[in-house]
Formats: sequence, C-alpha cells, structure tokens
Amino acid sequence: MQPDTTRSVVLLGSTGSIGTQSLDVIARNPGRFRVAALAAGGGRVDLLARQAAEFRPDAVAVADPSAVPALREALAAHGVSAEVLAGPEGVAEAAVWPADTVLNGITGALGLTSTLAALEAGRVLALANKESLIIGGPLVKRLAKPGQLIPVDSEHAALAQCLWAAGPSGPDASAVRSLVVTASGGPFRGRSRAELADVTPEQALAHPTWSMGPVITVNSATLVNKGLEVIEAHLLFDIGFDRITVVVHPQSVVHSMVEFVDGSVIAQASPPDMRLPIALALGWPERVADAAPTVDWTRAHTWTFDPLDDEAFPSVALARHVGSAGGTAPAVYNAANEVCVDAFLTGRLPFLGIVDTVATVVSEHIVTKADSVAEVLDADEWARARARELTGTA
Ligand SMILES: NC(=O)c1ccc[n+]([C@@H]2O[C@H](COP(=O)([O-])OP(=O)(O)OC[C@H]3O[C@@H](n4cnc5c(N)ncnc54)[C@H](OP(=O)(O)O)[C@@H]3O)[C@@H](O)[C@H]2O)c1
Repeated sequence: MQPDTTRSVVLLGSTGSIGTQSLDVIARNPGRFRVAALAAGGGRVDLLARQAAEFRPDAVAVADPSAVPALREALAAHGVSAEVLAGPEGVAEAAVWPADTVLNGITGALGLTSTLAALEAGRVLALANKESLIIGGPLVKRLAKPGQLIPVDSEHAALAQCLWAAGPSGPDASAVRSLVVTASGGPFRGRSRAELADVTPEQALAHPTWSMGPVITVNSATLVNKGLEVIEAHLLFDIGFDRITVVVHPQSVVHSMVEFVDGSVIAQASPPDMRLPIALALGWPERVADAAPTVDWTRAHTWTFDPLDDEAFPSVALARHVGSAGGTAPAVYNAANEVCVDAFLTGRLPFLGIVDTVATVVSEHIVTKADSVAEVLDADEWARARARELTGTA
C-alpha cells in the first residue's frame, strides 16, 4: 500500500549522478516526495538553478562560496526565491534543514560532516555517500538509531531486501551464513595485472554496465569500490569479514545475495538502474511503484558468477585488512585512494599505481581509534599528504 503523506527530502549532491537520478524519482512521484533543500559543490550552477526552478526547494546550498553570485543570478533568472546557503557550513545547514529524509549523494570523505549532522538532527538518512560510513564507522554507528540509516548502494539495498527473507520475524543475523556481494568486475574484468599496466583514464571511465560519477567509476575499475562496499556491508549488517564474499557478475542484474544457515540463497535481481535503490531508500520501507524497469522475462538471459581475481585486483583484500583493523585504517584507505584517483585522472599516476600507493600508505599508518571527527580527519589528512608525497603530486 502506498503512504498518503508527502515525504520531504533534502538532496545533497543534487547535480551528480545520484542526485539527478533521485530528482527523476521525485519528479515521477510528486504526491509522494517534496524537495525541501538542494545542495551541490558549485561546479554546475546552471543545472542547480534549473533543478531549483523545477522542484522549488526552500533552500539551495553551494559548497564553493565563489559560486554564490552566479547561483543567485541564475536563481533570479528562473524566478526562484529560495534561501541561498554558502560554503561547507551552508551544506551542513542544508543537511539539517527541516525534512523527513536526507539523501547524501556527495562524493568522498567530505560527505562525513553532512552524514553526522543529518543523523544528529534525527533525519532518516538515505546514504549513497558510503565513504562517510566507512571512514566514520564507529561515530556513524553510534549516532544512527535503528531504521535511521538506509543504504542507497545497489548491493546494500539488495542485501537489506534479501535479509527480509530471514524469517517472518524479520532480519536476524543468526539466520545468516554469509553475505554475497556481487561486482560487475568493471571495464578491466578478465585482465591480468600485467595487462593493466597501460590502461588510460578514458578506458577506466568507460564502465560496461553503470553510468556514475568519475570517482566511483574509477573505483569500480580498480575494485576499490567493492572493497569499500565490503566494509560498508560489515558496518551496516554486523556480519564478520570472513562471512562476506565477493563474486564477479558482469551482467549487474543480481545486486547481491544472502546465504542463510539452512543453505538457502536469496538474491535481489533487477536491471542495472540506480533509481530502484534510490526509490527504495526514499520511500523506505514502502516500495515506489515503477521506480525502474524490471527484467524482461520473455527474453533469454545468461547470468554468470566468477570468483574475484585477487592478484589483478588486490583492493578488496586490502579493504578486508583495513576493515578488520578498524579505527582510522578505513579512513586512510579511502583518503589515499581519493588522492590517487585524482592523480590517475590527471595523468600523473599509472592505473596500477593507485592501489599500490594506497597499500603503501596503509602499511605505514599506525592505526588509532576513530572515536571523534578530529581523529578521523587527522588520519584522512595524514593519508592524503603521504599519498601526495608518494605520487609526486604534493
Ligand atoms: N553514481 C552511482 O551510480 C552511485 C552508485 C552507488 C553509490 N554511489 C555513491 O554516491 C556518491 C555520489 O556519487 P556520484 O556518482 O553521484 O558522484 P558525482 O556524479 O561526482 O556527484 C557528486 C555530487 O556532489 C556534489 N558535491 C561536490 N562537492 C560537494 C560539497 N563539498 N558539498 C556538497 N556537494 C558537493 C557535486 O556538485 P557539483 O556538481 O557542483 O560538483 C555533485 O552534485 C558517492 O559516494 C558514490 O560512491 C554512486
């Protein structure tokens, strides 16, 4: 049954891949959702103003204060009178703007402040920005009340749905034998380590099944994204790393599976389209009708599942290592990776240099507790500085 109330939504990162797809879901369900505030970095002010003109939020935030004059001008041109919030503080203000749900679609570690602010303000948090959970694990988990943190990642949305099958009384970790997280394998699936030496940013950005922002697309090519997702699954579902398996499924239709103690495996399947997990997170726990196309069962399909090649793609094993170490280790893995992805995209680091450098930074890091934002950000800053030194991009 569909709810008869309208849910107000704050959308952080509205101009990105997740943001624009979220607005597509909202536009197609006007009685169900209303946009309370929009926030973006400031790189695409015209798009942000057009979104404000269409969705009429109360407030619009940009992280880059120098983008404010252009934003004001563009909003005025569209006849939009929303309050303009400027700078990182403005984005943080948007995160706590009165609303039912905050969807965090910001990229990278800088999404942490908004995640913490939204949880502290008691909002339901639809979390696409997995980095904030991964780097701020204990902090985020301490703040999140049951049912407050809803994953947007397709794999975790799938796992959450599969866990509903634990039994009539709902999700029960003791009924779970393992979580099986699927990976498309990215554009370089099947290549050996040697065959990855010369790949270019253009090749890495050509993902075979998903259209996403540049950082997550490169992370999908290195499989760092899958490593981050393994840590995310561990944190969200309290399942040990030894019970989380990654399998390569190039068709990206089975988004993940749960194996139960009796040997039964439940999978969630749908064509690759982020609007489905976005709609599920926005409407949680009710489904949104026609959120995305379903599998065409009148056609033949072949779905394949292969083990991960840990030699060519050591990023997942490294993520298990940092996830098990806990504390500041995941923040260091993520921060070093963000620096290396940037260096790779700007032609200053070869593809294999990304995970090799992350591994070196991780090995040099002395893990401490991550019980405060300052501890997390110190580790993040240290890892960025060290990665820049190692890649010669300081
Ligand atoms: N794309 C997917 O299909 C997908 C799937 C699963 C999970 N995710 C996760 O979702 C998150 C977003 O990914 P994406 O692919 O949508 O990235 P993206 O296309 O690069 O979009 C990033 C968004 O964040 C905004 N932004 C940048 N800095 C900001 C700041 N300081 N404050 C507020 N907003 C800021 C950008 O604004 P500007 O346009 O102004 O730069 C843009 O709207 C990532 O954590 C990713 O791992 C994405």
